[in-house]
Amino acid sequence: MNITLLAKKGGVGKSTVSLLLFEAFRQAGKTVIVHDWDAQGTSTKALELIDGDKPKFSGKPDIVIYDTPPSLDHNATATAVRSADIALIVATPAPADIWEAEEAVRFVQGRNGKAAVRVVFNKVRKGTVLGRLVDESAKQVSVPALPVTLSARECYQHAVAQGWKALDSAAREEVLQFAVALLSLT
Ligand SMILES: Nc1ncnc2c1ncn2[C@@H]1O[C@H](COP(=O)(O)OP(=O)(O)OP(=O)(O)O)[C@@H](O)[C@H]1O
Ligand SMILES: [Mg+2]
Repeated sequence: MNITLLAKKGGVGKSTVSLLLFEAFRQAGKTVIVHDWDAQGTSTKALELIDGDKPKFSGKPDIVIYDTPPSLDHNATATAVRSADIALIVATPAPADIWEAEEAVRFVQGRNGKAAVRVVFNKVRKGTVLGRLVDESAKQVSVPALPVTLSARECYQHAVAQGWKALDSAAREEVLQFAVALLSLT
């Protein structure tokens, strides 16, 4: 199964979410690789930090996660979208992200009629104005939002260097639920 993470906007958390998903699927006993289409190479570098000393998985994995550049104009984003079974648009609950998420929805639908398209809200701060607006924001996008949102957590920043072991139990629970929500789409 191929999961493509995309967003028109930079910095919303595509690479962080790629890595969290990678770790969650691995915890769940799946074989998984991240294919990094972004020349910045954030995911590739992070995986080297986390996994550098472990033997590389070879063969056909259960799940391939595609991380993409922060652009819908980039060929890499279009290629990754065409091979997606699930196209996951990453957004924060900020208004500008929501408008751009809808552009990303149209981008996917114009290139891949078969993919399940979903939005995931990242960096959610429950108890703040934007955090409370998540449900309202979700209604402004024409595809469903995943029922699991990812909170703003310092340990998610640390996960880029340390992987699963950086996560506290609440974060682990959230990330596993996120992975399960994705698996239930297929
Ligand atoms: N849920 C989160 N909680 C806290 N910090 C986060 C979260 N998600 C991402 N970040 C932080 O936000 C910044 C941008 O994240 P990331 O690099 O994953 O975004 P991106 O969409 O891949 O960016 P780019 O568009 O440049 O590729 C990083 O500093 C990352 O640690
Ligand atoms: Mg990135």
